[in-house]
Amino acid sequence: MIRIATIVLFAVCTLACVTDWETLHRRRNAKAHSYRHVKREVEFPPVLTERESIIVNSFDNNSISDWSYYYTHGHHLGGWNRSQAEWTAARWSENGLNAYLEEYHVYVTYPRESSLLLTRPDGSIHNVSFVEDALEEDSTATANQIPAYHAMSGSGDVTAEYVYVGRGTQGDFKALRDAGIELEGKIALAAYGGGYRGLKVKNAQDNGMIGCVIFTDPINDGEITEANGHLPYPDGPARNPSSIERGSVRFSSLYSGDPTTVGYSSVEGAPRNDVSPYNPVIPSVPISMRDALPLLQALDGHGLSAEEANRTAWLGGLNASYSSGPAPGATLHLTHYMDSWITPVWDTIGVINGTNPDEVVILGNHRDAWIIGGGADPNSGSAILVELSKALGKLLQTGWKPRRTIIFGSWDAEEFGLQGSTEWVEDHLPWLVSSTVTYLNVDIGSSGPRPEISGTGELHTIATELMKKILYPEEIGIGETLYDAWYNSTEGEIPPLGSGSDFAPFYQNGIGALDITSGGGPTDPVWHYHSGYDSYYWMSTYGDPEFKIHTAIGQYVGLLLYHLADDNLLPFDLPQSAEVLSAYLDELRDSIESAEVELDTSEIEDAITEFRVQADNIQRVAELAVSFGDDVLLQVVNTKYRDFQRGFVSQGGLPRRSTFQNLISAPGIDTGYSASVFPPVTEAVETGNLEEAAEWVTKSAKAILRAAEILQI
Ligand SMILES: *[C@@H]1O[C@H](CO)[C@@H](O)[C@H](O)[C@H]1NC(C)=O
Ligand SMILES: *[C@@H]1O[C@H](CO)[C@@H](O)[C@H](O)[C@H]1NC(C)=O
Ligand SMILES: *[C@@H]1O[C@H](CO)[C@@H](O)[C@H](O)[C@H]1NC(C)=O
Ligand SMILES: *[C@@H]1O[C@H](CO)[C@@H](O)[C@H](O)[C@H]1NC(C)=O
Ligand SMILES: *[C@@H]1O[C@H](CO)[C@@H](O)[C@H](O)[C@H]1NC(C)=O
Ligand SMILES: *[C@@H]1O[C@H](CO)[C@@H](O)[C@H](O)[C@H]1NC(C)=O
Ligand SMILES: *[C@@H]1O[C@H](CO)[C@@H](O)[C@H](O)[C@H]1NC(C)=O
Ligand SMILES: [Zn+2]
Repeated sequence: MIRIATIVLFAVCTLACVTDWETLHRRRNAKAHSYRHVKREVEFPPVLTERESIIVNSFDNNSISDWSYYYTHGHHLGGWNRSQAEWTAARWSENGLNAYLEEYHVYVTYPRESSLLLTRPDGSIHNVSFVEDALEEDSTATANQIPAYHAMSGSGDVTAEYVYVGRGTQGDFKALRDAGIELEGKIALAAYGGGYRGLKVKNAQDNGMIGCVIFTDPINDGEITEANGHLPYPDGPARNPSSIERGSVRFSSLYSGDPTTVGYSSVEGAPRNDVSPYNPVIPSVPISMRDALPLLQALDGHGLSAEEANRTAWLGGLNASYSSGPAPGATLHLTHYMDSWITPVWDTIGVINGTNPDEVVILGNHRDAWIIGGGADPNSGSAILVELSKALGKLLQTGWKPRRTIIFGSWDAEEFGLQGSTEWVEDHLPWLVSSTVTYLNVDIGSSGPRPEISGTGELHTIATELMKKILYPEEIGIGETLYDAWYNSTEGEIPPLGSGSDFAPFYQNGIGALDITSGGGPTDPVWHYHSGYDSYYWMSTYGDPEFKIHTAIGQYVGLLLYHLADDNLLPFDLPQSAEVLSAYLDELRDSIESAEVELDTSEIEDAITEFRVQADNIQRVAELAVSFGDDVLLQVVNTKYRDFQRGFVSQGGLPRRSTFQNLISAPGIDTGYSASVFPPVTEAVETGNLEEAAEWVTKSAKAILRAAEILQI
């Protein structure tokens, strides 16, 4: 202890005596909801250590293709396919992980009967299809037996006139109300895009509408459209016109996991509560752009015109004027009945014990998909995890044992609402909170060539540095290394965490996390999200023909996991964490300014200043501990690094949503997936409740001070 005290004193003095040029020169360049990094130099070719080389060289695009093929050739909707969970455990075990299944009993819904008929004023009828076209080339798309549906929707049989509501945001509905368009008792026709689908249904329901139909619009497909001369899938890279985006329409910004056990685990026999606060009561269905066309055309010239609506993306890419309607005599008859029940789901857990069992790094991916395929979502990530277990197996064969315990999670039933991961987190919460260092998430490992990451500030530096060690496929033409490709795609932006994948339950319990993905831009082949065409055939023909993006992302996740699990000093950058908090504060101040209200946020600013002092200090101590090789001091630093995020948790949760607890970011109440920063403050500002906003400024400042106190040495 005396030795520690001496070194700490020395460190504090060093800190106090040195002009902090680094902080002075660090450029903050905040962009909406994000932190933006300045591009740095890349050493080329990258130089790897021996163990890094073992990991990177272990990745083989041919075996990744085999794993992808396996996962994408059997129905595996949540709770449907236990054998895929067992197969995953068997592959991980072969490579040296101790793998087993954990079962939870969760609430799910499957379609029993769906139909949608348009009746035009002249009495003619259009019958909408919930089945995508059969394709000779793509056998798994054709074999899908589950028609497209919106899980967690209400059930019912409604007939009414209908109104096109744009993307169904609160702003779109306001424009319609302001124009005097009658919404009550009508059915909503909403376009996909611009926010989470469940909020479109919620907004329709809140406006007195009795049903909801959500359609895919080619305006979301960038330049790769039939109108621009591209052939549709499977003959070309444009969207197949029959493709339908399935998905859950639960109210995802209010809770995660099983809606019958919000806040506790769905173990067998757990008490169940009412789902109605968490799911819509009106029926809702998804339709293709081909079926949307006659519905839109029947409204042409009625109600509010697109010009009058004057809303973002109101005018889509189909041959219609996108008038709101209603059109007298044009009605929809929507029938949607679902079966709901409690069913077992299976998480596969794989463990490599570390020499220090009090520090745990977790890597997760969900396994379930809406359709037989799931080539990108989620099984590009699943294939990467199997291949990564093989790489770790090679390290284990050299006699290596990680410093920290490594846990792999293959989550079931993510698509219904993060059930597999949330229930597992709730089941193991005290242990996870006391030991987890970081959660890494790979869901859509590759749906296109443009890498993206989002996550907590302490991980930004290691996350960007390790990208420089990964070669990126030359033929894509956006950079020699993953870092260049990432920078090219994102201009250095690392957004905060919202929701939409399995990092949410970890992050909301105060565990730092990073989400890693790769998607398509406006000039890349169109990925058929949540459609039967998200298949092995699409992936191996258009998405990632030689599984090279899978390989690069896998190698990257491998290096991240290796360093987080094995570096003597956790590779965290706490001063960067302070920078990111400052960027979020700037973002909050922008929201306050655009809401044209007065709110004093100096308490948060002062708290960040204190956080920065402690962050700079502990970094100095950490550097000394490394240079002195002082294991005791290293352990002190690592423990503080592991724990500081817990300070950001608000016990009792955010207002009106108790399972979201992270005061730094959470899914936006009206965006659903993407994050809002200092969420209770931002939301109170947006709704004009300045008293509540001020209360949460204080609580947010205290949370940052708690984190700073945990870092204090
Ligand atoms: C589960 O998936 C595998 C392949 O991924 C498939 O062979 C098997 O038939 C599926 N099981 C069920 C019950 O659908
Ligand atoms: C609509 O199509 C479905 C599926 O082909 C069919 O079962 C149903 O009878 C059709 N309804 C009408 C009114 O044509
Ligand atoms: C459309 O809305 C924008 C702001 O959202 C406004 O600046 C513009 O004047 C509006 N145009 C019309 C024609 O109302
Ligand atoms: C668009 O629709 C109109 C009638 O609604 C039709 O006359 C025209 O040919 C269509 N254009 C295309 C490109 O299909
Ligand atoms: C890993 O550690 C746990 C907890 O300390 C212990 O129960 C388990 O037997 C260990 N597993 C192996 C394979 O060593
Ligand atoms: C991305 O790469 C393209 C093609 O090389 C290049 O034209 C573009 O300037 C790059 N953008 C950035 C932000 O690096
Ligand atoms: C793996 O990469 C090699 C070399 O680029 C290529 O020839 C092969 O077809 C790829 N394998 C698969 C399954 O795509
Ligand atoms: Zn997914």
